[in-house]
Amino acid sequence: MSTSKKGSPKRITTHVLQEMKNKGVKISMLTAYDYSMAGIVDAAGVDVILVGDSASNVMAGHETTLPITLDQMIYHASSVVRAINRSLVVVDLPFGAYQGNSKEALTSSIRIMKESGAHAVKLEGGSEIVESIERILSAGIPVMGHLGLTPQSIYKFGTYVVRAKETEEAKKLIEDAKALEEAGCFAIVLEKIPAKLAQKVAETVKIPVIGIGAGGDVDGQVLVIHDMLGITQEFSPRFLRRYNDLYSSIKSSVENYIEDVKSGDFPNEKEQY
Ligand code: KIV
Repeated sequence: MSTSKKGSPKRITTHVLQEMKNKGVKISMLTAYDYSMAGIVDAAGVDVILVGDSASNVMAGHETTLPITLDQMIYHASSVVRAINRSLVVVDLPFGAYQGNSKEALTSSIRIMKESGAHAVKLEGGSEIVESIERILSAGIPVMGHLGLTPQSIYKFGTYVVRAKETEEAKKLIEDAKALEEAGCFAIVLEKIPAKLAQKVAETVKIPVIGIGAGGDVDGQVLVIHDMLGITQEFSPRFLRRYNDLYSSIKSSVENYIEDVKSGDFPNEKEQY
């Protein structure tokens, strides 16, 4: 592993993530969708930046992740890539850009890599997308899997409740994780499943397993940055730890600005030419 002065890797690659799992070093992952936020997250030292299709919710205000397009994902991803020095950048293939068609999955992935400069793609699903994963990998593009609660299938699930609590679904999830590993995925995200099941998956597969609402006995954690910074307010699942209350902080700053403009206090003499 090549290291900087501080002893942390200079540039995170999929191989570095595998070494981290092998050594028991936890992997940190956060979403980012724009240049300014990605620059802060990268400077703070996060290992993986996910340009998630959660941009559909937190950036565009849609109710689900389904409406975001491939062009929009590429726009977000290219903004993120311009800001980063160290983190691995993974981009979600959006709904409609890969399901049921491995050729389209490859074409979409090539567009993401070529037009944004990102380092890997992420797809939701298990054995049913193995053909697409193999085809994407045949072009040399690293693939991250995503199992458990897969938001692009929300209309099939009907709700955002915890997945794989029943034995049958839990068994299928373990089989799917093995299939993703076998197909060549470099890592798997597990979303909103029982902690014991996530632990079992992390022990079963050799590749890194990154959890969101999947307990602490996995190889790393991911959160949506707007949620962990407290910019979003209405979303508060049990697994979410808020590290700030930026909604209140930004709102009161804007209120102060409005007050200063209205009163004529801003700009003052030092703030003009
Ligand atoms: O889109 C996203 O932000 C994600 C994470 C929740 C893992 O897929």
